[in-house]
Amino acid sequence: MSIIIKGGTLVTPRGSYISDIKIEGEIIACIGENLESSNAQIIDAGGSLVFPGFIDSHTHLDLDTGFTRTTDNFQTGTAAAIVGGTTTILDFATQNRGESLSEGLNNWHKLAKGISSCDYGFHMAITEWNEQVKKELETMKEEGITSYKAYMAYDSLRINDGEIYDILKALKKYNGILGVHCENGDLVNTMIREQLTQGNTSPKAHPLSRPNIVEAEAVSRFIDIAKLAEAPIYIVHLSTKEGLEEALRARERGQRVYLETCPQYLLLEDSLYDLEGFEGAKYVLSPPLRKNDDRESLWRAISLGQIDIIGTDHCSFNFKGQKELGLKDFSKIPNGIPGIEHRPVLMYTYGVMGGRITSEQMCALLSENVAKLFSMYPKKGALEVGSDADIVIWDPKANGIISKENQRQNVDYTPFEGFETLGKAKEVFLRGIHVVKDGELIKNNCGKFVKRGGHHV
Ligand code: URP
Ligand code: ZN
Ligand code: ZN
Repeated sequence: MSIIIKGGTLVTPRGSYISDIKIEGEIIACIGENLESSNAQIIDAGGSLVFPGFIDSHTHLDLDTGFTRTTDNFQTGTAAAIVGGTTTILDFATQNRGESLSEGLNNWHKLAKGISSCDYGFHMAITEWNEQVKKELETMKEEGITSYKAYMAYDSLRINDGEIYDILKALKKYNGILGVHCENGDLVNTMIREQLTQGNTSPKAHPLSRPNIVEAEAVSRFIDIAKLAEAPIYIVHLSTKEGLEEALRARERGQRVYLETCPQYLLLEDSLYDLEGFEGAKYVLSPPLRKNDDRESLWRAISLGQIDIIGTDHCSFNFKGQKELGLKDFSKIPNGIPGIEHRPVLMYTYGVMGGRITSEQMCALLSENVAKLFSMYPKKGALEVGSDADIVIWDPKANGIISKENQRQNVDYTPFEGFETLGKAKEVFLRGIHVVKDGELIKNNCGKFVKRGGHHV
């Protein structure tokens, strides 16, 4: 049986228009006015916006940090994501040191298979680079991996500048793109020690150990390495005005630099680290939250179309028992915060309704740009005939308040507690399957692996 979504306002980055959409099987079969079919199920979308399913470019599900494990696995995290309107995620499959990329990838396939409520793909995080790993890039491409991540910070994950240069050069043959966590790891280590030596053990010391320049220097270095390698690059979770300025200058010089930021860097500030007691631990992530000036610069860049993608960096740890691992030493607080569920509603409320971006820009930032950069377009990220029927019917009139009491994310707090919201993912279709009805998940575990291919933009 086919489904016809009637009378919604279809949102695309190039404009919005009222139309019907007909779904047949997993695919959008037809877009046009007054679509009819004798045996179709009719869904009334009058007064609603219709977006292509949102895509989260940056998640960490079922991640073992070596000390503890994220509370959200693929089952809980993707269920929360799809209720919020996210139909596809890109998680970071990570090669543990001593492992091949194939082993790392297999581990992540095992974590996700059969229990994901979103479609999912993997970026491959490279933590050890050598000739053998280099040879595996061919296999990775065949396995549907087109994007990679390297860390410039975290001793158990980071690789050196020469290795980043080598990876960038090697990836050109496969049209792959490298995203980098840009923080100067040496400076971070020294500045953490400096804080601890001065007796600063509370979460307040976290941003002091990772000031803006720590990110900006790493961004600038990554850009220079990419210039030498003549390769495009992706900067994940950009948080600072200075880092942004480095990236914009590089673009002016002709480099291809793609930028991602996250709702937390737009909506939360470093004053949260000064909260009473240990509360500030709820906001310990890296890079840390910044100042109003940074937030304003990022918002401005978003509205000007200078930032390409909004991802979440969802990496959830409970406050009780997990964040508390750092009660006596802030550097032991597991880094990361939850957000996979709330990105669309936060960007709609504070971006679109806040007058910072249009709904068309939201479509680009949360869906189309992600699909394009990560080789999924137009299968994903598009309301086009032949695209996967990943569709969000967005009720612009709904309102709510984000709270740990009403969230689906499997974690005991939300950094956005008390945030008022406008709009909501009312109905969600994943490859034609009606998975969210009136805001409730009615069918779970329908997600499949997205084997990505072709060329990034
Ligand atoms: O603090 C964060 N962001 N944790 C997740 C891992 C990363 O750096 O992306
Ligand atoms: Zn990172
Ligand atoms: Zn991350």
